[in-house]
Amino acid sequence: MLVSWSSKMETGIEEIDRQHKRLFEIAEKLYEVKNGDPESLNIGIAATAEELLDYAKIHFDTEEGMMEKAGFEGYAEHKKIHAAFQEEAKAYQARINERTEDVFLAMEIMNFLIDWIIGHISGKDQEYVPFIGN
Ligand SMILES: [Fe+2]
Repeated sequence: MLVSWSSKMETGIEEIDRQHKRLFEIAEKLYEVKNGDPESLNIGIAATAEELLDYAKIHFDTEEGMMEKAGFEGYAEHKKIHAAFQEEAKAYQARINERTEDVFLAMEIMNFLIDWIIGHISGKDQEYVPFIGN
Protein backbone atom coordinates (compact mmCIF):
# COMPACT_ATOMS: atom_id res chain seq x y z
CA MET A 1 0.00 0.00 0.00
CA LEU A 2 1.57 3.24 -1.12
CA VAL A 3 -0.83 5.51 0.69
CA SER A 4 -0.30 4.69 4.31
CA TRP A 5 -1.00 6.73 7.35
CA SER A 6 1.98 7.36 9.60
CA SER A 7 2.12 8.69 13.13
CA LYS A 8 4.33 11.54 11.85
CA MET A 9 1.23 12.95 10.21
CA GLU A 10 -0.74 13.06 13.42
CA THR A 11 -1.58 16.51 14.73
CA GLY A 12 -2.92 15.39 18.10
CA ILE A 13 -6.10 17.33 17.32
CA GLU A 14 -8.75 14.66 17.43
CA GLU A 15 -11.17 15.94 14.85
CA ILE A 16 -8.41 16.87 12.40
CA ASP A 17 -6.70 13.48 12.71
CA ARG A 18 -9.99 11.71 12.15
CA GLN A 19 -10.66 13.74 9.01
CA HIS A 20 -7.10 13.33 7.72
CA LYS A 21 -7.41 9.56 8.11
CA ARG A 22 -10.66 9.65 6.16
CA LEU A 23 -8.90 11.56 3.36
CA PHE A 24 -6.28 8.82 3.33
CA GLU A 25 -8.94 6.14 3.09
CA ILE A 26 -10.38 7.82 0.01
CA ALA A 27 -6.90 8.27 -1.47
CA GLU A 28 -6.30 4.54 -0.97
CA LYS A 29 -9.44 3.89 -2.97
CA LEU A 30 -7.79 5.65 -5.91
CA TYR A 31 -5.13 2.94 -5.87
CA GLU A 32 -7.74 0.23 -5.67
CA VAL A 33 -9.45 1.69 -8.73
CA LYS A 34 -6.11 1.79 -10.52
CA ASN A 35 -5.53 -1.89 -9.87
CA GLY A 36 -9.04 -2.83 -10.91
CA ASP A 37 -10.77 -3.13 -14.28
CA PRO A 38 -8.87 -1.02 -16.89
CA GLU A 39 -12.09 -0.49 -18.88
CA SER A 40 -13.66 1.52 -16.09
CA LEU A 41 -10.46 3.10 -14.81
CA ASN A 42 -11.10 6.71 -15.84
CA ILE A 43 -14.69 6.65 -14.65
CA GLY A 44 -13.56 5.15 -11.35
CA ILE A 45 -10.77 7.67 -10.88
CA ALA A 46 -13.12 10.55 -11.72
CA ALA A 47 -15.76 9.33 -9.25
CA THR A 48 -13.25 8.75 -6.46
CA ALA A 49 -11.58 12.09 -7.15
CA GLU A 50 -14.98 13.70 -6.75
CA GLU A 51 -15.53 11.91 -3.45
CA LEU A 52 -12.10 13.05 -2.28
CA LEU A 53 -12.74 16.66 -3.25
CA ASP A 54 -16.18 16.71 -1.63
CA TYR A 55 -14.69 15.47 1.61
CA ALA A 56 -11.67 17.81 1.30
CA LYS A 57 -14.09 20.73 1.18
CA ILE A 58 -15.69 19.67 4.48
CA HIS A 59 -12.27 19.12 5.99
CA PHE A 60 -10.83 22.45 4.82
CA ASP A 61 -13.82 24.25 6.35
CA THR A 62 -13.13 22.55 9.69
CA GLU A 63 -9.42 23.32 9.56
CA GLU A 64 -9.88 26.92 8.47
CA GLY A 65 -12.49 27.48 11.18
CA MET A 66 -10.07 26.23 13.83
CA MET A 67 -7.17 28.30 12.51
CA GLU A 68 -9.27 31.44 12.38
CA LYS A 69 -10.66 30.91 15.86
CA ALA A 70 -7.18 30.38 17.26
CA GLY A 71 -5.95 33.57 15.59
CA PHE A 72 -3.26 31.57 13.80
CA GLU A 73 -0.98 33.97 11.91
CA GLY A 74 -0.69 31.66 8.88
CA TYR A 75 -4.46 31.36 8.45
CA ALA A 76 -4.85 33.50 5.31
CA GLU A 77 -1.92 31.85 3.55
CA HIS A 78 -3.14 28.36 4.47
CA LYS A 79 -6.62 29.15 3.22
CA LYS A 80 -5.15 30.28 -0.11
CA ILE A 81 -3.26 26.99 -0.42
CA HIS A 82 -6.50 25.05 0.09
CA ALA A 83 -8.26 27.17 -2.53
CA ALA A 84 -5.42 26.75 -5.04
CA PHE A 85 -5.54 22.97 -4.59
CA GLN A 86 -9.30 22.92 -5.11
CA GLU A 87 -8.94 24.96 -8.29
CA GLU A 88 -6.20 22.78 -9.70
CA ALA A 89 -8.17 19.65 -8.87
CA LYS A 90 -11.29 21.07 -10.52
CA ALA A 91 -9.34 21.81 -13.68
CA TYR A 92 -8.16 18.19 -13.69
CA GLN A 93 -11.73 16.99 -13.22
CA ALA A 94 -12.88 18.98 -16.22
CA ARG A 95 -10.11 17.42 -18.31
CA ILE A 96 -10.84 13.87 -17.23
CA ASN A 97 -14.52 14.33 -18.02
CA GLU A 98 -13.58 15.38 -21.55
CA ARG A 99 -10.97 12.70 -22.06
CA THR A 100 -12.47 9.60 -20.49
CA GLU A 101 -10.21 7.29 -22.55
CA ASP A 102 -6.97 8.92 -21.50
CA VAL A 103 -5.42 6.55 -18.98
CA PHE A 104 -2.28 8.65 -18.61
CA LEU A 105 -4.37 11.61 -17.60
CA ALA A 106 -6.19 9.47 -15.02
CA MET A 107 -2.82 8.40 -13.57
CA GLU A 108 -1.65 12.01 -13.53
CA ILE A 109 -4.75 13.09 -11.61
CA MET A 110 -4.42 10.23 -9.18
CA ASN A 111 -0.79 11.07 -8.48
CA PHE A 112 -1.52 14.77 -8.14
CA LEU A 113 -4.25 14.16 -5.55
CA ILE A 114 -2.30 11.61 -3.54
CA ASP A 115 0.96 13.59 -3.55
CA TRP A 116 -0.82 16.75 -2.55
CA ILE A 117 -2.72 15.14 0.33
CA ILE A 118 0.36 13.43 1.75
CA GLY A 119 2.62 16.49 1.27
CA HIS A 120 0.11 18.91 2.74
CA ILE A 121 -0.76 16.85 5.79
CA SER A 122 2.85 16.06 6.64
CA GLY A 123 4.04 19.58 5.86
CA LYS A 124 1.84 22.66 5.93
CA ASP A 125 -0.76 21.26 8.34
CA GLN A 126 1.87 20.69 11.01
CA GLU A 127 2.44 24.47 11.25
CA TYR A 128 -0.88 25.26 12.94
CA VAL A 129 -0.60 22.45 15.49
CA PRO A 130 1.14 24.45 18.26
CA PHE A 131 -1.47 27.21 17.87
CA ILE A 132 -4.54 25.05 18.07
CA GLY A 133 -3.84 22.21 20.49
CA ASN A 134 -6.59 19.78 21.40
FE1 LIG B 1 -4.62 22.15 5.45
